[in-house]
Amino acid sequence: MAPGPLRIAPAAQTILDFQGDALILPLTEEHTSLRPGSAKKLALSRVEGADAALQKAITHAIQRKAFSGKLSERYLLHPAGRLGVGQLLLLGLGKASELTQDRIRQATAEALRHLQALKSRRVAIAVDDTDWAGLAVEPVAQAIAEGALLGLYRFNAYMGKAREDSTREIESLALLSMDRESAQRLKSAIGRGTVLGRATNLARDLINEPADVLTPAELARRAQAVARQHGLAVEVLDRGAMRRLGMGALLGVAQGSANFPRLIILRHRGGDRRAKPALALVGKGVTFDAGGISIKASEGMETMKGDMAGAAAVLGAMTGIAALRLPVHVVGVIPAVENLPSGSAQRPGDIVRAMDGTTIEVINTDAEGRLILSDALCYTHRLGARRLVDVATLTGGVVVALGSVRTGFFSNDRALAQQVQEAGEATGEKLWELPLDDEYEELIKSDCADLKNTGGGKKAPAIGAARFLKHFVGDTPWVHLDINGTWLQEKAQGYQPKGATGVMVRTLIHLASSLAYEE
Ligand code: BES
Ligand code: ZN
Ligand code: ZN
Repeated sequence: MAPGPLRIAPAAQTILDFQGDALILPLTEEHTSLRPGSAKKLALSRVEGADAALQKAITHAIQRKAFSGKLSERYLLHPAGRLGVGQLLLLGLGKASELTQDRIRQATAEALRHLQALKSRRVAIAVDDTDWAGLAVEPVAQAIAEGALLGLYRFNAYMGKAREDSTREIESLALLSMDRESAQRLKSAIGRGTVLGRATNLARDLINEPADVLTPAELARRAQAVARQHGLAVEVLDRGAMRRLGMGALLGVAQGSANFPRLIILRHRGGDRRAKPALALVGKGVTFDAGGISIKASEGMETMKGDMAGAAAVLGAMTGIAALRLPVHVVGVIPAVENLPSGSAQRPGDIVRAMDGTTIEVINTDAEGRLILSDALCYTHRLGARRLVDVATLTGGVVVALGSVRTGFFSNDRALAQQVQEAGEATGEKLWELPLDDEYEELIKSDCADLKNTGGGKKAPAIGAARFLKHFVGDTPWVHLDINGTWLQEKAQGYQPKGATGVMVRTLIHLASSLAYEE
């Protein structure tokens, strides 16, 4: 039987009276560096209570240097009838002065994965009894909820036999807090963290889904289903509608595949219903990128089912924005196509015409992301959005520049760039701005059309792509996020399991939220 969703809720209990399978006790390095016997040692009364109940097992672990509180360090004790749980997990939070929400997400995720492997089902984490180094209880609770949902995520929809081993999931996570007022505050913070975690996991599911299932039409159906669940308005344009709009660049990419393209438009009308959208999100939705006639090498090509990670980020973010009922008007636009070689595929040398009349010489059919985004950006620009943010697995160049640590971003507007940067910092999704100087325009000048889709060889390919997109946003404040290095993790780390990360979902929700409450 498939496990139910993880339940996360506050509980008015102390660590001495919680009954369940496991209890997590987070401690900073400062807690453990104090000399045993000193007055400050394990000064928090309820930790002392647990320590006493365990005949000083916590103090002994610290004295023996078996546990020092380093970030994500874990030490397991077996209370054997002395507490209401079978397992007590000491969890390191690192140095108090360096404690952040992101470190809490990370440590929570690693602790829960550890307990999951031990088959724990009902788990609690001490909140009141922990010294969170000055962080307020709301951001702590939110980070715990995010860390739990993100860290325990698994994509096992297609696991047959192997799945049986993984069906024992953690069922519940209680955040222990005795103070009734703070329990109420915990509740709404857990709610926010849950929305962010679920929205990201929705994106991860879509990205991990294979391309034979997740065609452009299926992506549109899934968008319609989640829109219905979340009260988003949704519209889907088919090939005929896109032809009428003159989306020649998008249709040129799509023409090689028997899976026809779609343009998906989602709308959350919060705030003033008549106002123009304060924000438009555009996500690259290439459900599979074989490269087209400029075909890719076969090694690693299976990862190209994830070339719609930008689209998934937009869809995930829209569900989160709706679930939080943000008082702001946001649209999400997803061009969904498949890029395959075939007898009907577009050729290098073809010249296509985008919706705004710009002609584009197609040098390399594998640089298809910018082609579909050009039409999607024209379309979105016409909706009159006041700000544009696009998300795309666009270039190998950004991976050369930033590896898989930071998402590269580009902008034509200082204020929006700053807001996106801040949203990334708040969510722990690291960003780095790259330049867009006019001199780079050389890279995309064509001899026979207004633009060409690649050029310059190894020279600044991520910047060339961004300059290309810039042509389609006019003067609207715009940010382009190139997530090609960050959408996929090769091995599990912190709250990021192996596979699709769902990167930028939380940043985009945070951005929408900051716009909602600033205006
Ligand atoms: N979806 C790819 C991005 C990509 C590149 C993924 C390399 C994995 C590895 C994108 O559509 C693409 O193919 N970009 C090419 C463009 C090049 C042909 C100008 C790239 O960046 O290598
Ligand atoms: Zn490509
Ligand atoms: Zn691509």
